[in-house]
Amino acid sequence: MPMRFPMATGAVGAVAAVLLGCGQGVAPVAPPPTPGGKLYLANCVACHRLDGSGVPGMQPPLAGTPVTVGDPGELLAWVMYGRRPAVLTPGTYGGLMPQFSYLRDAELADLLSHVRSSFGNHASAVTPAMVAAARAAQLHR
Ligand code: HEC
Repeated sequence: MPMRFPMATGAVGAVAAVLLGCGQGVAPVAPPPTPGGKLYLANCVACHRLDGSGVPGMQPPLAGTPVTVGDPGELLAWVMYGRRPAVLTPGTYGGLMPQFSYLRDAELADLLSHVRSSFGNHASAVTPAMVAAARAAQLHR
């Protein structure tokens, strides 16, 4: 006798079919289900996109762009506090970026390590100690 999965039929099955059907033939480039990948999905994907390509004129790509793969301290100061690195020319992009200092040290380390090793990037990892140092540097400005 075949196994039955009642949850996969009826309303739940219909909802799943709708959700699965909404891709409209576009192959998603989902990040790996690592902690950093999940944090990227939760915090950054709306603006910088699944593949890190950004939106022309609005949000920069994160693939190979100077702040993304540059000095981790400058990257942290930007992502946590909006402190603009010299290489990021004001007025180039129309969008505004929120600040993410509310994320925990380990979360920011996972998230930025993910970004620095995704989208073709091969930059060094960010550690929780680097995040803590960036917080301390901001406090003592
Ligand atoms: C609401 C949209 C938005 C969200 C969400 C967002 N960003 Fe941004 N991001 C921007 C915009 C706009 C800029 C350019 C800002 C400027 O030049 O003034 C930017 C710039 C950047 C840069 C500099 C790119 C470079 O190297 O030149 C990095 C790195 C970055 N964002 C990382 C992130 C990360 C990581 C997250 C998630 C934690 C995130 N952003 C979430 C809009 C966003």
